[in-house]
Amino acid sequence: MQAPTTTMTDGLELPRIGLGTYPMDDAQAADAVRSALDVGYRLVDTAASYGNEAGVGQGVAMSDVPRDEIVVTTKLRGDDQGYESTLRAFGESRERLGLEYVDLYLIHWPLPRLGRYVDSWQAMIQLRDDGLVNSLGVSNFTPAQIDRLVAETGVAPVVNQIELHPCFVQDELRAYDADHGVVTEAWQPLARKTDLLSDPGLREIADRHGVTPAQVVLRWHVQRGVVPIPKSGDPQRQRENLDVFGFVLSEEEMAAVADRPQARSGGDPETHEEF
Ligand SMILES: NC(=O)c1ccc[n+]([C@@H]2O[C@H](COP(=O)([O-])OP(=O)(O)OC[C@H]3O[C@@H](n4cnc5c(N)ncnc54)[C@H](OP(=O)(O)O)[C@@H]3O)[C@@H](O)[C@H]2O)c1
Repeated sequence: MQAPTTTMTDGLELPRIGLGTYPMDDAQAADAVRSALDVGYRLVDTAASYGNEAGVGQGVAMSDVPRDEIVVTTKLRGDDQGYESTLRAFGESRERLGLEYVDLYLIHWPLPRLGRYVDSWQAMIQLRDDGLVNSLGVSNFTPAQIDRLVAETGVAPVVNQIELHPCFVQDELRAYDADHGVVTEAWQPLARKTDLLSDPGLREIADRHGVTPAQVVLRWHVQRGVVPIPKSGDPQRQRENLDVFGFVLSEEEMAAVADRPQARSGGDPETHEEF
């Protein structure tokens, strides 16, 4: 079982579902990545700040899946923003991952008060030109912040990874991304911090299709053209989360999934600071 892919503006084939790895430690990440690759995942998400890049790299190394079939994503942490520090931090991430190249490198948060995301982006363009990174993206960026990257460097991100789930649908940002050829990835796609998965309405839709509530939510993402990266270390759940390409939600069901109070549970990109 494998997720179909979507072709990005730079030619990258991005699987339409990936594996999240926060807050796994190295040992958990190594096991989780290896089993996810066995199950059929080809997109893996980590970050320098998760402290598990070494484990993710071990999972990739232990797997029988050829390296060039796997899209490994990592992210630049806030402390490392800036031109020279991005080049150095990327080298350290690459070493921890034990990989020759990284498929997708993201700026983790814009940190507008720090004011270094354009410098970081310029360094990332250099890394791409040097063949060390295949594709460049951002995480938690607003349209204005993406516009600024493009205006100052001429290079647009191919991915914007944002908080997005049925309790925070992000229609405006998703529309902006789509209009600009940016693929939206959803973090916290199962709304981890809410009781969404035990919602009776969701259960009813799931029963109708003979699937689980988590599968309904992941299918909802996929039908909206969003790439969810659910986290699980459990092979059974990993399989379940990938197996959402055999049923279709109706328009009414799509609307019902997201018919609930809307609120973000993580940081606001305009103000959130994490280093
Ligand atoms: N860019 C950013 O700023 C940012 C921020 C947060 C997260 N992320 C990334 O996004 C990934 C996903 O977000 P997240 O981990 O916060 O939330 P999530 O994927 O929405 O939820 C993960 C939780 O759901 C459980 N779960 C997974 N599959 C399930 C299923 N089929 N049925 C029931 N429960 C299930 C997991 O438990 P088990 O593990 O026990 O299966 C875990 O407790 C992270 O791992 C990370 O890679 C990025």
